[in-house]
Amino acid sequence: FKVVFNPSFPYRLAHTVVAFFVTTGFVVMGVGAYLMRRGRSVEEGRTMLSMTLWLLTVLVPLQMFIGDQHGLNTRDHQPAKLAAIEARWETARQVPLTLFAIPDDKAERNLFAIDLPWLGSLVLTHELDGEVKGLKDFPADQRPPVAIPFFAFRIMVGCGILMLGLVLVGGWLRWRGRLDASPAFLSITQIAAPIGFVAVIAGWITTEVGRQPWTVYGLLRTADSVTPSLTGFDVMLSLIGYVAVYLIIYPVGLFLMLRIVRKGPAIAAEIDVEIEGGRPGAPVRAGAVELREGEVR
Ligand code: HEM
Repeated sequence: FKVVFNPSFPYRLAHTVVAFFVTTGFVVMGVGAYLMRRGRSVEEGRTMLSMTLWLLTVLVPLQMFIGDQHGLNTRDHQPAKLAAIEARWETARQVPLTLFAIPDDKAERNLFAIDLPWLGSLVLTHELDGEVKGLKDFPADQRPPVAIPFFAFRIMVGCGILMLGLVLVGGWLRWRGRLDASPAFLSITQIAAPIGFVAVIAGWITTEVGRQPWTVYGLLRTADSVTPSLTGFDVMLSLIGYVAVYLIIYPVGLFLMLRIVRKGPAIAAEIDVEIEGGRPGAPVRAGAVELREGEVR
C-alpha cells in the first residue's frame, strides 16, 4: 500500500493523466489541420482544431505547472534522481541550469556544458540561493546513470516548450481571426500530431532510469527484486511473445486509424450509410402534376 501511495503519487498521477489528454489533444488538432489543408471535411476539421486548441490552452500550461511541482517533490524524496536529471555533481547553492552537457559518470563531471548561471537554483528550489544536492553526496553504487535521465528530461521539457509555443501562436491567430488562414500554422500543427507521444516516452524514461538502482527508493534494489525462480530463458520467451504481438497490433492499428483519418468524418459517414432494400419507410409521393381546368385524369 505504501509503495503505491508514496509521496510522489498525487504529482505522478496528475502529470500522467494530463499528459494523456495533452497527447490526444495534439493528435486531434493534427488531424483537424490535415482535413483543413486537404480541403475536404473542412468544417469538421475547423471544429476539431478550434475546440482542442481551447482545451490545450488550459492543459499545456497546467502540465508545466504540475511538472514543476513534481520536480520539487522529486528533489525532496528522490534527490539522486534529481541530481542525475540536472547532471549536478557537487552539492551547492546558486547552481546554474545546465542546458546541454555530455555527463561523464566515471570522471564525475560534465563535458561541453552550456550553463545559465543561478537559474538551476531558481528552477529547482524556487530561490536564487537554494541548495541543490549533487551526485557525489551518494555512494557510486546508489546513483543512476546520468546521461539518459539528463537527455530524456530535456526532450520532455523541450516538447512541453514547443507545445506551449504552438498553443500561443494558435491563440494569437485566433485573436486576429486568422486561425484557418495560415497554411504554415496548419502544416506545423499537422507535423506536431505525435509530439505528445515523444514527451510521454521521454518522461517515462526519465522516471524509470532515474530511479535506478532502486525499485523502492532507498529500500529495495532492482537487482534484489528479480523473482528467484525466473530464468533468463523465461524472460526471453515472454519478451519475444510481447514483441511479436505488438509488431502485429501497432502497424495494423496505425493503418486502420490512418484510413479513417484519410476518409475524413463527413465522407466516412457517407460511405458507412447502408443502402436499404425492401419497403419504403413512408408513402412514396407522386411527382407534381399540373391540372388544367376541365381536365380529368
Ligand atoms: C515544463 C514542462 C515539464 C516539466 C517541468 C516536467 C517535469 C517532470 C518531472 C520532474 C518528471 C519526473 C519525476 C520523477 O520521476 O520523479 C516527469 C515525468 C514525466 N513527464 Fe513531465 N514535465 C514536463 C512536461 C511534460 C509533458 C509536456 C509531458 C507529456 C505530454 C510529460 C509527461 C511525463 C510523463 C509521462 C512522465 C513519467 C511519469 C511517471 O512515469 O511517473 N511531461 N516530468
